[in-house]
Amino acid sequence: MSTTASMSDATTTTPSTTSAAAQAKAAGKTLLKVSGLRVGYGGIQAVKGVDFEVREGELVSLIGSNGAGKTTTMKAITGTLPAGAGDIEFLGRSIKGRGAWDLVGEGLVMVPEGRGVFTRMTITENLQIGAYIRNDKAEIAADMERVFVTFPRLRERKDQLAGTMSGGEQQMLAMGRALMARPKVLLLDEPTMGLSPIMCDKIFEVVQAVSTQGVTILLVEQNANRALQLADRGYVMESGLITMDGDAKALLRDPRVRAAYLGE
Ligand SMILES: Nc1ncnc2c1ncn2[C@@H]1O[C@H](COP(=O)(O)OP(=O)(O)OP(=O)(O)O)[C@@H](O)[C@H]1O
Ligand SMILES: [Mg+2]
Repeated sequence: MSTTASMSDATTTTPSTTSAAAQAKAAGKTLLKVSGLRVGYGGIQAVKGVDFEVREGELVSLIGSNGAGKTTTMKAITGTLPAGAGDIEFLGRSIKGRGAWDLVGEGLVMVPEGRGVFTRMTITENLQIGAYIRNDKAEIAADMERVFVTFPRLRERKDQLAGTMSGGEQQMLAMGRALMARPKVLLLDEPTMGLSPIMCDKIFEVVQAVSTQGVTILLVEQNANRALQLADRGYVMESGLITMDGDAKALLRDPRVRAAYLGE
């Protein structure tokens, strides 16, 4: 099975463990389900009826060219843009019309395009804000320690103002802040945008590590090759519609995907 083979390439677990993990994901419960979603800006439809789902433990990649509607979809899911027709279910219940802050508290957390860190606050303060909805102090401290282990650079700079960090460091901070909310589903919108190749590698490594830790991830990426290599499944979006979907490795081999998104 291609998923099994690719996962054992990407992780250090044994093949049998990986196989069990892959099977568990395939049979996992659906955490996020989008059906017939339409989203518009004024009279212009940017998302024209899309269906997809993300199951527990999966890393799902959403790829597509500029203007396809990926960010619009992510914003509608997380309540930062009003959804039009269709429905969005999270943990089995409709969340349509709910606000972003409210959804963060339930575990639906997005790291937006452009990161959105609080530039005039320190790294530590930004991370504390990620946990704003929680009041379990000891666990918040433990989670912050875990974030510092995942991102040693953030520990080194913990008292530095976020606005003085490099783009890659700000991306790490944005991801760290999202993890402080204990996401059940983490949505990442183009985490490597504008970063150097080395920093891109680092961010992809961290996405992989966070996924391996058990966080369910929906990843929007311009780098379709890397995104599909990491993912369990993928969806291709074009002009507001999902045009292809399936096992990520199968999509990577698909001649249409290779021609349109991998420059072949
Ligand atoms: N605030 C807005 N007002 C009007 N139209 C918008 C707005 N934001 C996005 N759009 C339009 O909606 C469509 C989808 O944009 P969206 O940002 O969702 O694309 P995307 O797939 O995320 O693209 P990219 O890969 O460039 O980030 C585009 O045609 C865009 O011009
Ligand atoms: Mg976008």
